[in-house]
Amino acid sequence: MGMREFRKRVNLFFNGEKALPGFHADNLRVLKKNIGFLDEPRFKEAWEFGRSGNKHAFGKKRDVPDIRWRAHVCCWAASNALSLEGDFVEFGVNGGLVSMTVCEYLNFGKQDRTFWLFDTFAGIPTESLSGEAAEKAKRANDGLYSDVYEIAKRNFSKFENARLVRGTLPETLDASPVGKIAYLSVDLNVAKYERECIERVWDRIVPGAPIVLDDYAFQGHEDQYEMWNEFATAWGHMVLTLPTGQGLIIKH
Ligand SMILES: C[S@@+](CC[C@H](N)C(=O)[O-])C[C@H]1O[C@@H](n2cnc3c(N)ncnc32)[C@H](O)[C@@H]1O
Repeated sequence: MGMREFRKRVNLFFNGEKALPGFHADNLRVLKKNIGFLDEPRFKEAWEFGRSGNKHAFGKKRDVPDIRWRAHVCCWAASNALSLEGDFVEFGVNGGLVSMTVCEYLNFGKQDRTFWLFDTFAGIPTESLSGEAAEKAKRANDGLYSDVYEIAKRNFSKFENARLVRGTLPETLDASPVGKIAYLSVDLNVAKYERECIERVWDRIVPGAPIVLDDYAFQGHEDQYEMWNEFATAWGHMVLTLPTGQGLIIKH
């Protein structure tokens, strides 16, 4: 082994992933790409707004995860959606990391539309789940989620047109007057609930609208992957797999 290789290995041993080249975060490593969006002042400010608002929303043991690339995808999708008629919707908000970033990025308070933000704001309801799905949800509730309603209320308070809807989906959706949808972000982490929600709103999503699936290609989320593939195919659509693990559907 040459000296150079030896140094590389020592560096890798002590610094782990950080010693490798390129951008690395959120289980994504990118080499030799221009990724200036991360330094775009408007995006940086929006991300910082979301990040700082979520410091206490991820359980005691976890820092706010660096999901900037996922947030960038949502900012891009939501920006495009501004040219379409309809409201914005997120299923699965927690403290609002992604949607706060989107709202700040788009100066959402000035937009003539509503952002519907659906969540229990206290973790995944387990009563109607069984088997592995119920076990997984319980684990997530124990390790990750707590009552974040007050945090979420504060986080979106400067956007008068952001409406937090607290309670169990899909029931809360049935009780809310959501009309046309121009942007949809789905992040419930449970295939059954995501399916129940998309089936209810599919007809209201306008042509050209982006649907961002947060967990689509993540290992350990195969039930969501299969459900979305089956749903998209049934409607003559195809899900784009993004390297972030998100899925993207453009409604046509
Ligand atoms: C991964 S978190 C969402 C993270 C969020 N998108 C962000 O940007 O930080 C998933 C959320 O889905 C919510 N959730 C899951 N199933 C639900 C259901 N049936 N009804 C309401 N909320 C639900 C949980 O309470 C949790 O806050």
